[in-house]
Amino acid sequence: MGTLANKRILLGVSGGIAAYKSADTVRRLREIGAEVRVIMTRGAESFITPLTLQAVSGRPVYRQLLDTDPGLKPAGAGAEAGMGHIELARWADAVLVAPASANFLARLAQGRANDLLTAVCLATEAPVAVAPAMNQQMWNNAATKTNLATLQKNGVRIFGPGEGSQACGEVGPGRMLEPADLASLTSELFTSGVLDGLNVVITAGPTWEALDPVRGLSNRSSGKMGYALATAAMEAGARVILVSGPTSLPDPERVLTLRVESAQEMHDAVHTHVPTANIFIGVAAVADYRPATRATEKIKKSGEKMTLELARNPDILASVAALKPAPYTVGFAAETEHVEQNARRKLEDKKIDLVAANRVGADLGIESDDNSLLLIDRRDATTLPAQPKTRLARSLIQHIAERYHAERGTQNTRRAHRR
Ligand code: PMT
Repeated sequence: MGTLANKRILLGVSGGIAAYKSADTVRRLREIGAEVRVIMTRGAESFITPLTLQAVSGRPVYRQLLDTDPGLKPAGAGAEAGMGHIELARWADAVLVAPASANFLARLAQGRANDLLTAVCLATEAPVAVAPAMNQQMWNNAATKTNLATLQKNGVRIFGPGEGSQACGEVGPGRMLEPADLASLTSELFTSGVLDGLNVVITAGPTWEALDPVRGLSNRSSGKMGYALATAAMEAGARVILVSGPTSLPDPERVLTLRVESAQEMHDAVHTHVPTANIFIGVAAVADYRPATRATEKIKKSGEKMTLELARNPDILASVAALKPAPYTVGFAAETEHVEQNARRKLEDKKIDLVAANRVGADLGIESDDNSLLLIDRRDATTLPAQPKTRLARSLIQHIAERYHAERGTQNTRRAHRR
């Protein structure tokens, strides 16, 4: 069973007897880490109550496209009721419609937006998957087949259906897949395989440079960007080692996480593991300097002024890029001004392959859930617009994988091996 840790799944429930299984689908998705919100069509409400799905998802259920009654509008649906579907569409990392009735499939295939669920499916950039559930004659009908072909051509993923005895007493194809299978297939939407078999080392979070047993120098990095990249690289098929400074985040699933404190400890942990790495990504906000001496006891107050002597820390990123052979090396540049100019300088000075530049400030880049990036290498520059770090990380990993394979020619070699 895969994982959906930190993933936001929008479950659409359309009208059909299999809707009674939706409560279990919510449970299965949540069991493997997903945050779930539910949209019900009017038809679905004939088979299961919104209250049931609210209870299992822990969130109010969304039901209407143009909801003018603020009492019905769930928290987070947006200030303007009519815009709720756009916000939901942006919120989702994936949309799963289960059960998807023949009527729903037909409406989706036609690109209609005549209820909340179809409107969200049209408005989202996230992957959409449908789990058809219907009578076997309806499933075999030519119109349904045509609709499914259209949906597949449009990039909609089709989960199932299964075969067997049906609620109507007939036997044949058209049964909705079981909730556990749907949860597992949904987790596979996030696995791309673009880093299959590769070793990736990532640094994340701040470093802590101790001054005495209780005080030290650090910064506001939360680790969110680096942890999201570790998960995205894992989902892309890589074996990932995450070397993390002090953060309050839990270890990402299926990632070997090594906790360190200072820049020197981070440097040492990285160099233990980087010789076998294909790709290194330095996301950590590493302190450039540390207190020259570390007091063994708490430093006492003395006088009006105090001068601290600082010593230079090793530059982890530059030291990795200088290895022979070096992994494909990606650095971050956190800038408050002249973002592109400063990032280009880092690309050249540290002799790295790619730099991901972000503007940092009061509500930007650092600590926040969202970020935007300017990716610069010696070929060109690409902008990844502001979005949640989890989604941004997947785009960055895709970009890194393309550049890595293009530069090292590995994609072709691996394809040749497979033939
Ligand atoms: O953790 P979050 O709250 O999610 O915030 C994410 C982030 C803003 C910290 C992240 O996106 C980011 O920009 N990380 C790099 C922060 C930084 O230290 O930038 P820099 O411009 O000072 O360093 C440039 C690069 O050199 C970075 O890849 C850094 O990891 C690396 N470096 C810097 C100094 C040093 N001694 N060793 C290094 O490896």
